[in-house]
Amino acid sequence: MDLKAQAAAAALEYIQNGMAIGLGTGSTTSYFVDLLGEKLKQGELKDICGVPTSEKTASRARALKIPLVSLDDVSELDVVVDGADEVDPQLNLIKGLGRALLREKIVESHTSRFIVVVDESKLVPKLGKKGPLPVEIIPYAAKAHVRWLNTLGCRAELWLEADGTPATTDNGNYLAKCWFEDGIEDAYQLAEKLAWRAGIVEHGLFLGMASLVIVAGQAGIQKLEAKR
Ligand code: A5P
Repeated sequence: MDLKAQAAAAALEYIQNGMAIGLGTGSTTSYFVDLLGEKLKQGELKDICGVPTSEKTASRARALKIPLVSLDDVSELDVVVDGADEVDPQLNLIKGLGRALLREKIVESHTSRFIVVVDESKLVPKLGKKGPLPVEIIPYAAKAHVRWLNTLGCRAELWLEADGTPATTDNGNYLAKCWFEDGIEDAYQLAEKLAWRAGIVEHGLFLGMASLVIVAGQAGIQKLEAKR
């Protein structure tokens, strides 16, 4: 089985009848959504409801007849299962290369049990080492936001589609990609700067949020529990 599918399957062990589950976005989570749909169909799980983090996940879940609700309807989720683009040794994450970081962060702020599912290629010694940090920005004066992002010690660019138009999110915003040559020196300080800046909607640093990271590797499944 594909490593991403193995990580997703291991997360299913944490799902019980009656749970409200946040459903992440991306190829790893999509295995999880498929498996969840199958368990419901077989009657091995019941009374489950899901809160999707993107339109893509929502349509997949609907096709599998997973009952969906909105965060307006549930005060606290029992668990959220989602992938990540990078995981550092403290279980801090970069997320959002699937373009869903804002809804993911909102949904993941409504649970005390956030389970991350990744294959071992996502483990990094330092965030920003492997790929860019995605940042969701307001379309108004988008170039100005990207110019400001470039003052943060990275090379920032507007995320463009193959046809040259700006990539947009489910929320109608644009995205920027920020490349840090030697990784992100102080992720907390960077997150604070981004949070305060007008025009920056949200960023892909998910710090101190993961409770458990399930890593599928050639040697098997590893479960990394947050020390909090
Ligand atoms: C979605 O916006 C992201 O946060 C994904 O969770 C992340 O990109 C992981 O995606 P894969 O599971 O496809 O690697």
